[in-house]
This record gives sequence, structure tokens and C-alpha cells, in this order.
Amino acid sequence: MRDLARAQLPRAVFDFADGGAEDETTLRRNEAAFDDLALLPRPLDGSATRDLSVTLFGKKLGLPVIIGPTGLAGLFWPDGERCAARAAKAAGTAYCLSHGSVCTLEELAATGACPRWMQVFIYRDRGFTRALTERAAKAGYDALVLTTDNQMLGNRERDIRNGFTIPPRFKPTDMAAMALKAEWLWRMRRELKRITFGNYARPGENADIATLAGRMASLLDPSMNWQDVAELRKIWTGPLLIKGVLHPDEAKKAVEHGIDGLIVSNHGGRQLDGAAASLDALPGVIDAVGARVPVLVDGGIRRGSDVVKALALGAAACLIGRPQLFGLAVAGEAGVARVLEIYRQEIDRAMGLCGVTSIAGIDHSLLLKNRIGELP
Ligand SMILES: Cc1cc2nc3c(=O)[nH]c(=O)nc-3n(C[C@H](O)[C@H](O)[C@H](O)COP(=O)(O)O)c2cc1C
Repeated sequence: MRDLARAQLPRAVFDFADGGAEDETTLRRNEAAFDDLALLPRPLDGSATRDLSVTLFGKKLGLPVIIGPTGLAGLFWPDGERCAARAAKAAGTAYCLSHGSVCTLEELAATGACPRWMQVFIYRDRGFTRALTERAAKAGYDALVLTTDNQMLGNRERDIRNGFTIPPRFKPTDMAAMALKAEWLWRMRRELKRITFGNYARPGENADIATLAGRMASLLDPSMNWQDVAELRKIWTGPLLIKGVLHPDEAKKAVEHGIDGLIVSNHGGRQLDGAAASLDALPGVIDAVGARVPVLVDGGIRRGSDVVKALALGAAACLIGRPQLFGLAVAGEAGVARVLEIYRQEIDRAMGLCGVTSIAGIDHSLLLKNRIGELP
């Protein structure tokens, strides 16, 4: 799907999704970490059929793969966020809307996609954090996801090299290469003028994307702290997750602050280059919080067997970022549906080959320990 997306998208748009921060060490680590973990199947424990469902925050999901928040999904396909949310709904899984979606959170809610989660930041203007949270509650979102690893913008050098701007502006020299991307250009011909950060427009305001992008960037706040988490906990009464946790101490503290779930993540290697791979950080976080809250993970999950490995380490479910954007770029809703179906088939096959019949049956015993009895 990534190869097909690369063929469809202008280079700057493909790189915006595909790239990471600086030397992309963390981006590469995320995927490589899965290679270092080996499965130990027990085929004689198998059964004719497998049950891939999981229950999270009281809602049953058809598979343990959730669509994670990705800003500007509407740049990959017209109305991209709503297309992906519909595909998630059809697959019976959750969709998490990014703060930086093109459509507004209310427009996404109108699709009826459920469970739907809303991702927010702690903004310099705490009133804006409160306003977004209240809008999400009013629009019936099932969970709120506070992303904590985007308090300053990561240094994404591919975007700098490509002169990636929002909305994309193409130099005459780009035009020859663009001729090969005619399908995307044609499909997006009306959309490109409308690409915006829907959630940041004030009621009745018709601000252009540059204004809204500036507003968004100026709202990021590296001085956010636990007091802000405590405040958010008071405002949002439903399930509240923190996304971007890597450190066990932070995980423990989050639970003490009444957080209902954690997402172990390094933002897909787009923020702090040099940060640990999510999969490597997962066991430490799980040890720190025990069974008190579900721990989810994202970053580099490209195969059904990757999902099985993450669950074997104790994750409750996985999120995917880039794969769904690539699906969107290739075929909109049908592309995301295909991506989710590939995960479903691969998880089912990996479970069948491992000899497990349900998600609850996936545990540490399926993982090869090294010679001194430890996981790598
Ligand atoms: C293009 C793009 C935009 C993203 N935007 C957001 C965002 O707005 N909020 C957020 O919390 N994470 C964002 N992320 C991070 C994803 O939610 C997720 O953590 C990451 O992509 C997972 O890694 P994967 O792409 O290897 O699956 C974004 C990722 C990509 C690739």
C-alpha cells in the first residue's frame, strides 16, 4: 500500500506522511523492534476459528487495531477523515480524530462512526483546550486522547527539503514530476483550496489555512504539566488516555492522576529522534502500571504478526498511523477498508499458526526468551 501511495502522491505529500524527525533513527527503530521479537507457536492448541474481538472502555471492537490520529488526512483523499472513519466503522473498530483534521470534529461525528475518539493537546490558551474538550463531549465522542509528545514541533527534515507548505504550493520545477501525479491533482482539484484545520476556526470565521496553521503552532505549549492533566481530568468525565508515554515513571503518575488508558508512542518517530522504539518501551510501561489501565501502543505496526507480538507483551490494542494514510491515498474509504482487512486476515492467520483462539490467549508464553531468560 505504501508503494501504491508513493506512486499516487506528490513527493512532498508522500514524504509528509512517510518521513520522521532528523535522521529518522526512531522511525526505523519502531519497525526494527518487531524483527527482534520472535514468536514461539503452539499449533496443537489451535481451533478451527479465531475470535479477534477485544473490549476497550466498555465497547467491543472487531479487531485490536484502531485508526490513530493523523493530521491533514484530508490532504490524501477528498474528505479523508470521514472516509477513514467510515472504513473503521465498517470494520467494527475505533477511529481517533486528530486535532489537525481538515473536517471539524462535529462533521466527523455526523458520520456516526463509533467508537470515535478525539485527540487534543494542552494549549497555551487553556480555554481552547477546554473548548475543544467540551465540543468533543457535546458531539458524543467516546474517549479523549491527550497527546503529550507534540508540545514543540519535531524537526522533519524531509518537509524542509521539500518546501512542504500547507496548502501545497508547487514551483514550476515541480510541475514535470507532478504530471505523473495527475490523478491525485484531478481528484483534489477542488479540495486543495479548502484544505484547512477545521477545529481551529472560530465560529463563523472563514480563515485561510495559513492563519489557522499559525494559530495552531502558537498554541503549542512545552510548559504543560501534571496540573494541566489534573484540570483536564476534571473537565472530561469519560475515558481519558495519554498518548506519547514512553517512561515508566510517567505512566505511573498518569494512573495516579486518574487517567484511564495509556498509548505508548513516539509519534511514529516524527518528534524526538533518538527516542526509544515504542515496542521497546512497552514492557517498562506495563510493568509500571500493571493491570490498572489498558496500555495501547503504536509505531511501526505493519503486519498482523506485529500486532500479535505487541499483545503478547501485554498491549491491549494497537493503533496505526501511516498505513491508513497510504490506504486513503490509494483508494479513499475502500483503501482504508483494505488496509484494515489485511490486518484482520494477518492477525487471524498469525493466531491460527500460533495456536491461539482468542485475543486473551495471546501472552508472554508465545515469545522466545533469550539465553538468560529475558525478552530482548
Ligand atoms: C502524517 C501524520 C500526521 C500525524 N498527526 C498526528 C496528530 O495530529 N496527533 C497525534 O497525536 N499524532 C499524530 N501522528 C502520529 C500518529 O498518531 C501515530 O502515533 C504514528 O503515526 C504511529 O506510527 P505509524 O505511522 O508507524 O503507525 C501523525 C502521524 C503521521 C504519519
